Amino acid sequence: MSVAVTHPDLPTLTVVDHPLVRHKMTLLRDRETSTKTFKELVDEIAMLMAYEATTDLALEEVPVDTPLESTHGWAVSGKKLVLVPILRAGLGMVEGILRLIPSARVGHIGLYRDHDTLEPVDYYFKVPGDAEARDFLLLDPMLATGGSAAAAVTSLKRAGAHRIRLLCLVAAPEGVRRLADAHPDVSVLSAALDRELNESGYILPGLGDAGDRLFGTR
Ligand code: PRP
Ligand code: URA
Repeated sequence: MSVAVTHPDLPTLTVVDHPLVRHKMTLLRDRETSTKTFKELVDEIAMLMAYEATTDLALEEVPVDTPLESTHGWAVSGKKLVLVPILRAGLGMVEGILRLIPSARVGHIGLYRDHDTLEPVDYYFKVPGDAEARDFLLLDPMLATGGSAAAAVTSLKRAGAHRIRLLCLVAAPEGVRRLADAHPDVSVLSAALDRELNESGYILPGLGDAGDRLFGTR
């Protein structure tokens, strides 16, 4: 059963409204949550989100021999899915999803937000060469102004990708709108839709700086 909730004002966004996701998101937001637990929670929530993000994966019928007889089953078809974490914080979402989809490929996009302008600065890009034939799941826990996600999608499209979806944990309405304006074809699956951004571009109520909380930096 799907637990996805859509928003009429934000048509590209779907929020995964599962009790386990809501429970774990509350622990993730808590300022007292340790770095170790934060990392475990990001991993677990990403895995739960991936379940919802893959409901439309294409299948092909395959034969299978059980211990009793031959029958038919199903295998995921097509080129392997590509997970693309936006460094740094997106890295925390990779392992959980790989446990569900171990054959997925992993690309990387290095971006950080300039603290003064809040605009993304890119420093690394690597994805599989045959990007036009693959499905991409862009991973970043935070969709704040949307600048980083929009820049990452632009880079993926320049490399030939055209089936791209963003998986995040906390989305701000401002970020969903900016990404939809720049890339209306890219849908967003998030574990939560928060209220707004503060004057420093942080999501409220949010969870703080995802990269710092994940890696224990400040
Ligand atoms: C955070 C987050 C996103 C970005 C979101 O990364 O992981 O990539 O900010 O903000 P935006 O929607 O306004 O662009 P940050 O720039 O802090 O880099 P880091 O992960 O290396 O700490
Ligand atoms: N990046 C973060 O890590 N947190 C926010 O609230 C906004 C951007």
